Amino acid sequence: MTETVAVAADHGGYEMKCALLPELRALGFAVIDLGTNSTDSVDYPSFAKLVSDAIESGTAQRGLLLCGTGIGISIAANRNAKIRCALAHDATTARLARQHNDANVLALGARVIGLEIAKDCLKTFFTTEFEGGRHARRVALMS
Ligand code: RB5
Repeated sequence: MTETVAVAADHGGYEMKCALLPELRALGFAVIDLGTNSTDSVDYPSFAKLVSDAIESGTAQRGLLLCGTGIGISIAANRNAKIRCALAHDATTARLARQHNDANVLALGARVIGLEIAKDCLKTFFTTEFEGGRHARRVALMS
């Protein structure tokens, strides 16, 4: 079954979101773009909630969130107990977020990393499996 990824950004992440959507589709994912749809100022918690709700309801299996730093939108997403949102600035962090933390949402800071780094993070995060084992116990303890 094709995995669906819900994607959203605030105004700080809008342009990088536009650049990453085709990358995500090229990896074979179905993509739901939940906005924002311009560089007009918006509030990142609202967009974090759209992605969190999509995952909680089963509409999407994983998510991608972007804001200026990735900090605000990741904090907001992690308010939902179903979400394990990891803010990554490099492919190694993105890989470990999947292998060790079974992160289901990737957050990126569009004002602090360049597009090529963002693409590396994206590809690594969405193609790396959770290792399970001792990490599964730790992930379960969070709930
Ligand atoms: C918006 O100016 C900015 O605060 C937001 O994109 C993000 O960086 C917050 O954490």
